[in-house]
Amino acid sequence: MNTKLTPITQDSLTEASALIQSGQLVAFPTETVYGLGGSALDAQAVLNIFRAKERPVDNPLIVHIASRDQAFPLCRWTDLADTLASAFWPGPLTLLLRRTEMVPDVVTAGLSTVDLRLPAHQGALAFLRACALPVAAPSANRSGRPSPTTAQHVMEDMDGRIPLILDGGASGVGLESTVLDLSGEVPTVLRPGAVTPEQITMVAGSCEVASSVMRPLEVGERALSPGMRHRHYAPQGRLTLVEGEPEAVAEAIIGLHDAQPEARILAMHDHIPLYDNRPVNDLGQDAADAAHRLFYLLRSFDAQGVPRIFSETLPPTGLGLAVMNRLARAAEFDIIKV
Ligand code: TXA
Ligand code: MG
Repeated sequence: MNTKLTPITQDSLTEASALIQSGQLVAFPTETVYGLGGSALDAQAVLNIFRAKERPVDNPLIVHIASRDQAFPLCRWTDLADTLASAFWPGPLTLLLRRTEMVPDVVTAGLSTVDLRLPAHQGALAFLRACALPVAAPSANRSGRPSPTTAQHVMEDMDGRIPLILDGGASGVGLESTVLDLSGEVPTVLRPGAVTPEQITMVAGSCEVASSVMRPLEVGERALSPGMRHRHYAPQGRLTLVEGEPEAVAEAIIGLHDAQPEARILAMHDHIPLYDNRPVNDLGQDAADAAHRLFYLLRSFDAQGVPRIFSETLPPTGLGLAVMNRLARAAEFDIIKV
């Protein structure tokens, strides 16, 4: 199959919606990461998504919609969902709600809940409106690779597997949306993202964070979100995180790096002078910069065949929690405390 990469125009939107309506796949930009879309109402199209990504079929997909009305036939909408949607939609908050019969089993991996998201990206919304149906879309990477934040990343992973990639430039946020479970008593973050637990608490009155967000699953433990079972966001080189006061962290990383000069260093901008002219990859000034750059940097390391990476950590508050969740998983929880 020939994979076409095209900017978002009236013509490419017409082509994209025709593909989706005939059960084929289209990759599209969002404010978080690029998605690999197929009709959420067509079980065969959804199976094609799993095949193109090589994704295990027990890992359910997020359903993307262009308006709140589109959510109503798919789920048991609640007052709390309405309050949260008013505060955060369109935006990087995915709501997990009880589902209806309208959603095919393959979308939810047979679970009784469905994950719904209304993205804050003009290109994504134009695409979803043109499709005029709910679009199931995981991140548009091959399973186990960092999520794509540019159309070129999608091409690297999907060339020859899908007919069309809509190019909307680099994703602003750079990390996947917050997944918030509304099916229980207390809203619970299953995957941290740019809408933070602190922000959710302000609107919902309470918000918990699943304990599995910052630790590996124990043997035999049931995953609240099936995505947490699978190896995730893994760069090809081995990644180790070093945690502690900036000076002590830099000293430890310098020692590790000098024993393995082919290794790369990830550090916050203000700490770079601590590394005495060693080549450091800049995570930026704050958690928002780090979120925006992380997957991009991990992919560039893969492209260069970097075998070893050492990274600083961030305080796990606000958007820092999302960055640390991805970093810790990419490192397979190899974290040195100094
Ligand atoms: O930002 C995003 O959310 C991106 C863009 C494309 O919208 N999408 C994305 O999808 O990250 P994906 O498939 O890579 O991640 C979806 C996550 C997985 O961890 C999955 O297990 C979880 O949401 N999930 C989906 N449906 C679920 C359900 N019914 N119950 C529990 N977890 C669910
Ligand atoms: Mg993903």
